[in-house]
Amino acid sequence: MNNTFKAYQVEENEDGSFSSEVKQVPFSVLPDNEVLIKVHFSSLNYKDALSATGNKGVTKSYPFIPGIDASGEVIEDKCNTFTKGDKVIVTGYDLGMNTSGGFGEFIKVPAGWVVPLPENISMLQAMIVGTAGYTAAYGVTRLKRELVTPQSGEVVVTGATGGVGSMAVFLLSKLGYSVTAATGKMDQKQLLEKLGANKIIHRNELYPEKKALLNSGIYSAAIDTVGGKMLEALIPQMQQDGAIACCGNILGHELHTNIYPFILRGVSLLGIDSGITKMPFRLKIWELLNEVANGFPKEAYKIVHPEQLRVEIEKILKGNQIGRVVLKHSA
Ligand SMILES: NC(=O)c1ccc[n+]([C@@H]2O[C@H](COP(=O)([O-])OP(=O)(O)OC[C@H]3O[C@@H](n4cnc5c(N)ncnc54)[C@H](OP(=O)(O)O)[C@@H]3O)[C@@H](O)[C@H]2O)c1
Repeated sequence: MNNTFKAYQVEENEDGSFSSEVKQVPFSVLPDNEVLIKVHFSSLNYKDALSATGNKGVTKSYPFIPGIDASGEVIEDKCNTFTKGDKVIVTGYDLGMNTSGGFGEFIKVPAGWVVPLPENISMLQAMIVGTAGYTAAYGVTRLKRELVTPQSGEVVVTGATGGVGSMAVFLLSKLGYSVTAATGKMDQKQLLEKLGANKIIHRNELYPEKKALLNSGIYSAAIDTVGGKMLEALIPQMQQDGAIACCGNILGHELHTNIYPFILRGVSLLGIDSGITKMPFRLKIWELLNEVANGFPKEAYKIVHPEQLRVEIEKILKGNQIGRVVLKHSA
Protein backbone atom coordinates (compact mmCIF):
# COMPACT_ATOMS: atom_id res chain seq x y z
CA MET A 1 0.00 0.00 0.00
CA ASN A 2 1.22 3.54 -0.77
CA ASN A 3 1.87 6.01 2.02
CA THR A 4 -0.75 8.36 0.64
CA PHE A 5 -4.31 8.22 -0.72
CA LYS A 6 -6.47 10.48 -2.87
CA ALA A 7 -8.98 12.75 -1.17
CA TYR A 8 -11.13 15.84 -1.64
CA GLN A 9 -9.62 18.01 1.09
CA VAL A 10 -10.91 21.33 2.37
CA GLU A 11 -8.48 23.92 3.77
CA GLU A 12 -8.92 27.10 5.77
CA ASN A 13 -6.88 29.93 4.27
CA GLU A 14 -5.08 32.63 6.23
CA ASP A 15 -7.73 35.22 5.29
CA GLY A 16 -10.47 33.00 6.79
CA SER A 17 -11.78 31.78 3.43
CA PHE A 18 -11.99 28.08 2.53
CA SER A 19 -10.74 26.24 -0.55
CA SER A 20 -10.78 22.64 -1.66
CA GLU A 21 -8.53 20.45 -3.73
CA VAL A 22 -8.33 16.83 -4.84
CA LYS A 23 -4.89 15.72 -3.69
CA GLN A 24 -2.77 12.94 -2.23
CA VAL A 25 -2.82 13.00 1.58
CA PRO A 26 -0.78 10.92 4.04
CA PHE A 27 -2.48 8.07 5.99
CA SER A 28 -1.48 9.98 9.13
CA VAL A 29 -4.53 12.28 8.58
CA LEU A 30 -6.74 9.35 9.63
CA PRO A 31 -7.61 9.08 13.32
CA ASP A 32 -6.47 6.14 15.43
CA ASN A 33 -9.66 4.06 15.23
CA GLU A 34 -10.19 0.31 14.91
CA VAL A 35 -11.41 -0.35 11.37
CA LEU A 36 -9.53 0.76 8.26
CA ILE A 37 -11.88 0.77 5.24
CA LYS A 38 -11.09 1.27 1.57
CA VAL A 39 -13.94 3.47 0.36
CA HIS A 40 -15.46 2.54 -2.99
CA PHE A 41 -18.38 4.98 -2.94
CA SER A 42 -19.57 7.96 -0.89
CA SER A 43 -22.43 10.37 -1.48
CA LEU A 44 -23.21 14.06 -1.22
CA ASN A 45 -25.55 15.28 1.50
CA TYR A 46 -26.47 18.79 2.61
CA LYS A 47 -24.25 18.40 5.68
CA ASP A 48 -21.26 17.59 3.45
CA ALA A 49 -21.79 20.84 1.59
CA LEU A 50 -21.71 22.70 4.92
CA SER A 51 -18.51 20.95 6.01
CA ALA A 52 -16.94 21.54 2.57
CA THR A 53 -17.57 25.28 2.79
CA GLY A 54 -16.22 25.86 6.27
CA ASN A 55 -19.32 25.63 8.48
CA LYS A 56 -17.75 25.32 11.95
CA GLY A 57 -21.05 24.09 13.41
CA VAL A 58 -20.37 20.90 11.42
CA THR A 59 -16.55 20.74 11.22
CA LYS A 60 -14.46 22.46 13.86
CA SER A 61 -11.00 22.34 12.33
CA TYR A 62 -9.37 22.18 8.91
CA PRO A 63 -7.72 20.84 6.76
CA PHE A 64 -10.46 18.24 6.64
CA ILE A 65 -11.88 15.53 4.36
CA PRO A 66 -15.72 15.64 4.40
CA GLY A 67 -18.13 12.80 3.51
CA ILE A 68 -20.68 11.55 6.06
CA ASP A 69 -21.31 8.38 3.99
CA ALA A 70 -19.09 5.55 2.82
CA SER A 71 -19.39 2.03 1.45
CA GLY A 72 -16.33 -0.09 0.93
CA GLU A 73 -14.29 -3.05 2.09
CA VAL A 74 -12.51 -3.69 5.35
CA ILE A 75 -8.72 -3.64 5.08
CA GLU A 76 -7.97 -4.17 8.76
CA ASP A 77 -9.94 -4.39 12.02
CA LYS A 78 -7.85 -4.13 15.20
CA CYS A 79 -10.66 -5.59 17.35
CA ASN A 80 -11.51 -8.46 14.95
CA THR A 81 -15.24 -7.70 14.68
CA PHE A 82 -14.81 -7.61 10.90
CA THR A 83 -12.63 -9.63 8.56
CA LYS A 84 -10.44 -8.28 5.76
CA GLY A 85 -12.57 -8.03 2.61
CA ASP A 86 -15.93 -7.64 4.40
CA LYS A 87 -18.19 -5.25 2.51
CA VAL A 88 -19.53 -2.57 4.83
CA ILE A 89 -21.39 0.73 5.16
CA VAL A 90 -20.70 3.67 7.47
CA THR A 91 -23.14 6.58 7.67
CA GLY A 92 -23.52 9.26 10.31
CA TYR A 93 -21.98 9.30 13.78
CA ASP A 94 -19.01 11.67 13.51
CA LEU A 95 -17.93 10.52 10.03
CA GLY A 96 -17.33 13.50 7.75
CA MET A 97 -17.95 15.95 10.61
CA ASN A 98 -14.76 15.78 12.66
CA THR A 99 -13.65 12.27 11.67
CA SER A 100 -12.05 12.14 8.23
CA GLY A 101 -14.84 11.15 5.80
CA GLY A 102 -15.82 9.30 2.65
CA PHE A 103 -14.54 11.96 0.23
CA GLY A 104 -11.19 10.23 0.80
CA GLU A 105 -10.28 6.78 -0.53
CA PHE A 106 -9.78 5.49 3.04
CA ILE A 107 -11.51 6.02 6.39
CA LYS A 108 -10.67 4.71 9.86
CA VAL A 109 -13.64 4.38 12.21
CA PRO A 110 -14.71 2.68 15.47
CA ALA A 111 -16.12 -0.84 14.88
CA GLY A 112 -19.37 0.27 16.52
CA TRP A 113 -20.12 2.57 13.53
CA VAL A 114 -19.82 -0.17 10.90
CA VAL A 115 -22.85 -1.91 9.33
CA PRO A 116 -22.40 -5.06 7.22
CA LEU A 117 -23.62 -4.52 3.66
CA PRO A 118 -27.15 -6.02 3.45
CA GLU A 119 -27.40 -8.98 1.05
CA ASN A 120 -29.65 -7.36 -1.61
CA ILE A 121 -27.69 -4.11 -1.76
CA SER A 122 -24.48 -3.44 -3.70
CA MET A 123 -21.86 -0.95 -2.52
CA LEU A 124 -23.11 1.46 -5.20
CA GLN A 125 -26.77 1.06 -4.19
CA ALA A 126 -25.81 1.61 -0.54
CA MET A 127 -24.53 5.06 -1.50
CA ILE A 128 -27.46 5.86 -3.80
CA VAL A 129 -29.34 5.39 -0.52
CA GLY A 130 -26.70 6.99 1.75
CA THR A 131 -27.69 9.18 4.68
CA ALA A 132 -30.52 10.67 2.61
CA GLY A 133 -32.20 7.32 1.99
CA TYR A 134 -31.41 6.13 5.48
CA THR A 135 -33.10 9.27 6.88
CA ALA A 136 -36.14 8.74 4.66
CA ALA A 137 -36.35 5.09 5.78
CA TYR A 138 -36.01 6.20 9.41
CA GLY A 139 -38.98 8.56 8.83
CA VAL A 140 -41.03 5.79 7.20
CA THR A 141 -40.21 3.44 10.09
CA ARG A 142 -41.40 6.02 12.63
CA LEU A 143 -44.62 6.65 10.67
CA LYS A 144 -45.28 2.90 10.59
CA ARG A 145 -44.71 2.78 14.34
CA GLU A 146 -47.49 5.42 14.65
CA LEU A 147 -49.76 2.99 12.73
CA VAL A 148 -49.83 5.10 9.57
CA THR A 149 -50.69 2.59 6.84
CA PRO A 150 -51.34 2.97 3.10
CA GLN A 151 -55.05 2.90 4.01
CA SER A 152 -54.69 5.91 6.33
CA GLY A 153 -54.65 8.41 3.45
CA GLU A 154 -52.36 10.71 1.52
CA VAL A 155 -48.77 11.23 2.74
CA VAL A 156 -47.01 14.48 1.79
CA VAL A 157 -43.25 14.78 1.27
CA THR A 158 -41.64 18.24 1.23
CA GLY A 159 -38.40 19.07 -0.59
CA ALA A 160 -39.46 16.20 -2.82
CA THR A 161 -36.75 16.53 -5.48
CA GLY A 162 -33.95 16.71 -2.87
CA GLY A 163 -31.91 13.78 -1.58
CA VAL A 164 -34.07 12.86 1.43
CA GLY A 165 -37.27 13.92 -0.34
CA SER A 166 -36.75 11.87 -3.50
CA MET A 167 -35.85 8.81 -1.42
CA ALA A 168 -38.92 9.33 0.80
CA VAL A 169 -41.24 9.56 -2.24
CA PHE A 170 -39.67 6.40 -3.68
CA LEU A 171 -39.75 4.31 -0.49
CA LEU A 172 -43.29 5.32 0.52
CA SER A 173 -44.66 4.61 -2.92
CA LYS A 174 -42.91 1.23 -3.06
CA LEU A 175 -44.52 0.38 0.27
CA GLY A 176 -47.96 1.16 -1.19
CA TYR A 177 -48.57 4.66 0.20
CA SER A 178 -50.19 7.33 -1.93
CA VAL A 179 -47.69 10.21 -1.97
CA THR A 180 -48.14 13.92 -2.63
CA ALA A 181 -44.78 15.40 -3.63
CA ALA A 182 -44.41 19.08 -2.68
CA THR A 183 -41.70 20.79 -4.69
CA GLY A 184 -40.42 24.15 -5.89
CA LYS A 185 -39.36 22.51 -9.16
CA MET A 186 -42.56 21.88 -11.11
CA ASP A 187 -40.42 21.14 -14.18
CA GLN A 188 -39.39 17.89 -12.43
CA LYS A 189 -42.92 16.48 -12.56
CA GLN A 190 -41.89 13.54 -14.75
CA LEU A 191 -39.08 12.55 -12.41
CA LEU A 192 -41.37 12.73 -9.37
CA GLU A 193 -43.91 10.54 -11.15
CA LYS A 194 -41.15 8.06 -11.94
CA LEU A 195 -40.24 8.04 -8.25
CA GLY A 196 -43.84 7.03 -7.55
CA ALA A 197 -45.60 10.30 -6.62
CA ASN A 198 -49.36 10.12 -6.96
CA LYS A 199 -49.83 13.89 -6.96
CA ILE A 200 -47.36 16.74 -7.46
CA ILE A 201 -48.02 20.19 -6.01
CA HIS A 202 -46.03 23.40 -5.85
CA ARG A 203 -44.71 23.75 -2.31
CA ASN A 204 -46.44 27.15 -1.97
CA GLU A 205 -49.79 25.31 -2.06
CA LEU A 206 -48.96 23.97 1.39
CA TYR A 207 -49.22 27.46 2.85
CA PRO A 208 -52.94 27.95 3.57
CA GLU A 209 -54.55 31.20 2.40
CA LYS A 210 -55.86 31.74 5.89
CA LYS A 211 -53.64 30.73 8.78
CA ALA A 212 -55.76 28.99 11.44
CA LEU A 213 -55.13 27.04 14.63
CA LEU A 214 -56.54 24.00 12.78
CA ASN A 215 -56.93 23.81 9.00
CA SER A 216 -58.71 21.06 7.05
CA GLY A 217 -57.11 17.73 7.87
CA ILE A 218 -55.72 16.73 4.47
CA TYR A 219 -52.75 14.47 5.11
CA SER A 220 -52.46 11.28 7.14
CA ALA A 221 -48.71 11.80 7.46
CA ALA A 222 -45.76 13.84 6.27
CA ILE A 223 -42.03 13.55 5.83
CA ASP A 224 -40.80 17.11 6.13
CA THR A 225 -37.26 17.88 5.01
CA VAL A 226 -37.70 21.67 5.06
CA GLY A 227 -38.73 22.73 8.60
CA GLY A 228 -39.45 26.34 9.63
CA LYS A 229 -42.63 27.86 8.22
CA MET A 230 -43.21 24.78 6.02
CA LEU A 231 -43.47 22.56 9.10
CA GLU A 232 -45.62 25.23 10.81
CA ALA A 233 -48.01 25.10 7.85
CA LEU A 234 -48.16 21.29 7.83
CA ILE A 235 -49.04 20.68 11.48
CA PRO A 236 -52.63 22.11 11.34
CA GLN A 237 -53.28 20.25 8.06
CA MET A 238 -52.84 16.75 9.48
CA GLN A 239 -55.77 14.40 9.86
CA GLN A 240 -56.86 12.78 13.14
CA ASP A 241 -53.92 10.76 14.56
CA GLY A 242 -51.68 12.08 11.78
CA ALA A 243 -47.91 12.02 12.15
CA ILE A 244 -45.07 14.13 10.81
CA ALA A 245 -41.50 12.85 10.62
CA CYS A 246 -39.38 15.99 10.62
CA CYS A 247 -35.72 15.95 9.69
CA GLY A 248 -34.69 19.19 7.99
CA ASN A 249 -34.11 22.83 8.83
CA ILE A 250 -33.68 24.41 5.40
CA LEU A 251 -36.11 27.20 6.36
CA GLY A 252 -34.64 27.63 9.83
CA HIS A 253 -34.53 26.07 13.27
CA GLU A 254 -37.46 27.85 14.92
CA LEU A 255 -40.94 26.39 15.18
CA HIS A 256 -43.98 28.52 16.02
CA THR A 257 -47.10 26.45 16.38
CA ASN A 258 -50.09 25.89 18.66
CA ILE A 259 -51.28 23.04 20.84
CA TYR A 260 -54.63 22.21 19.15
CA PRO A 261 -53.41 19.85 16.40
CA PHE A 262 -51.77 17.83 19.18
CA ILE A 263 -54.57 17.79 21.78
CA LEU A 264 -57.63 17.93 19.51
CA ARG A 265 -56.37 15.73 16.65
CA GLY A 266 -53.72 13.57 18.30
CA VAL A 267 -51.09 14.68 15.80
CA SER A 268 -47.56 13.40 16.50
CA LEU A 269 -44.38 15.25 15.66
CA LEU A 270 -41.60 12.68 15.25
CA GLY A 271 -37.96 13.70 15.41
CA ILE A 272 -35.46 12.09 13.04
CA ASP A 273 -31.74 11.97 13.81
CA SER A 274 -29.88 9.78 11.37
CA GLY A 275 -26.51 10.53 12.96
CA ILE A 276 -26.47 8.68 16.25
CA THR A 277 -29.19 6.02 15.80
CA LYS A 278 -28.51 3.15 18.20
CA MET A 279 -27.19 0.07 16.39
CA PRO A 280 -30.24 -2.27 16.83
CA PHE A 281 -32.57 0.38 15.35
CA ARG A 282 -29.96 1.25 12.69
CA LEU A 283 -29.89 -2.39 11.55
CA LYS A 284 -33.71 -2.47 11.43
CA ILE A 285 -33.70 0.55 9.12
CA TRP A 286 -31.14 -1.15 6.84
CA GLU A 287 -33.38 -4.27 6.90
CA LEU A 288 -36.22 -2.15 5.49
CA LEU A 289 -33.85 -0.67 2.90
CA ASN A 290 -32.65 -4.17 2.02
CA GLU A 291 -36.27 -4.99 1.09
CA VAL A 292 -37.20 -1.85 -0.81
CA ALA A 293 -34.16 0.21 -1.83
CA ASN A 294 -33.58 -1.47 -5.18
CA GLY A 295 -34.95 0.13 -8.32
CA PHE A 296 -34.34 3.80 -7.50
CA PRO A 297 -34.70 5.34 -10.98
CA LYS A 298 -31.43 6.07 -12.75
CA GLU A 299 -32.73 9.54 -13.69
CA ALA A 300 -32.78 10.37 -9.96
CA TYR A 301 -29.09 9.91 -9.23
CA LYS A 302 -25.75 10.65 -10.82
CA ILE A 303 -22.28 9.28 -10.26
CA VAL A 304 -19.41 11.77 -10.03
CA HIS A 305 -15.66 11.69 -9.44
CA PRO A 306 -13.90 13.72 -6.71
CA GLU A 307 -12.92 16.40 -9.26
CA GLN A 308 -16.64 17.09 -9.94
CA LEU A 309 -17.63 17.51 -6.28
CA ARG A 310 -17.16 21.27 -6.05
CA VAL A 311 -19.83 22.01 -8.67
CA GLU A 312 -22.28 19.58 -7.03
CA ILE A 313 -21.65 21.16 -3.61
CA GLU A 314 -22.55 24.60 -4.98
CA LYS A 315 -25.79 23.19 -6.42
CA ILE A 316 -26.93 21.55 -3.18
CA LEU A 317 -26.23 24.76 -1.22
CA LYS A 318 -28.50 26.68 -3.62
CA GLY A 319 -31.32 24.11 -3.29
CA ASN A 320 -30.84 23.21 -6.97
CA GLN A 321 -29.71 19.61 -6.55
CA ILE A 322 -32.02 16.94 -7.89
CA GLY A 323 -32.07 13.47 -6.36
CA ARG A 324 -28.84 11.84 -5.24
CA VAL A 325 -25.19 12.44 -6.03
CA VAL A 326 -22.92 9.40 -5.60
CA LEU A 327 -19.15 9.79 -5.38
CA LYS A 328 -17.12 7.03 -7.00
CA HIS A 329 -13.46 6.61 -6.09
CA SER A 330 -11.59 5.47 -9.15
CA ALA A 331 -9.11 2.89 -7.86
N1 LIG B 1 -32.19 14.83 10.75
C1 LIG B 1 -31.37 14.10 10.02
O1 LIG B 1 -30.89 13.07 10.43
C2 LIG B 1 -31.07 14.54 8.62
C3 LIG B 1 -30.47 13.68 7.70
C4 LIG B 1 -30.28 14.12 6.37
C5 LIG B 1 -30.62 15.42 6.02
N2 LIG B 1 -31.17 16.24 6.97
C6 LIG B 1 -31.61 17.59 6.62
O2 LIG B 1 -32.68 17.47 5.70
C7 LIG B 1 -32.68 18.58 4.82
C8 LIG B 1 -32.65 18.07 3.37
O3 LIG B 1 -31.42 17.43 3.13
P1 LIG B 1 -31.07 16.88 1.66
O4 LIG B 1 -29.74 16.20 1.77
O5 LIG B 1 -32.24 16.17 1.12
O6 LIG B 1 -30.89 18.28 0.88
P2 LIG B 1 -31.19 18.61 -0.65
O7 LIG B 1 -30.85 17.44 -1.50
O8 LIG B 1 -30.55 19.92 -0.92
O9 LIG B 1 -32.78 18.79 -0.70
C9 LIG B 1 -33.43 19.87 -0.12
C10 LIG B 1 -34.66 20.22 -0.93
O10 LIG B 1 -35.43 21.17 -0.19
C11 LIG B 1 -36.18 22.00 -1.08
N3 LIG B 1 -35.91 23.40 -0.79
C12 LIG B 1 -34.78 24.10 -1.03
N4 LIG B 1 -34.93 25.38 -0.68
C13 LIG B 1 -36.20 25.50 -0.22
C14 LIG B 1 -36.98 26.58 0.28
N5 LIG B 1 -36.47 27.81 0.36
N6 LIG B 1 -38.27 26.35 0.65
C15 LIG B 1 -38.79 25.10 0.56
N7 LIG B 1 -38.10 24.04 0.09
C16 LIG B 1 -36.83 24.24 -0.28
C17 LIG B 1 -35.71 21.64 -2.50
O11 LIG B 1 -36.63 20.67 -3.02
P3 LIG B 1 -37.82 21.09 -3.99
O12 LIG B 1 -37.23 22.02 -5.01
O13 LIG B 1 -38.31 19.80 -4.58
O14 LIG B 1 -38.86 21.78 -3.16
C18 LIG B 1 -34.37 20.93 -2.24
O15 LIG B 1 -34.04 20.06 -3.29
C19 LIG B 1 -31.46 19.42 5.21
O16 LIG B 1 -31.89 20.42 6.13
C20 LIG B 1 -30.55 18.42 5.93
O17 LIG B 1 -29.67 19.04 6.82
C21 LIG B 1 -31.39 15.83 8.24
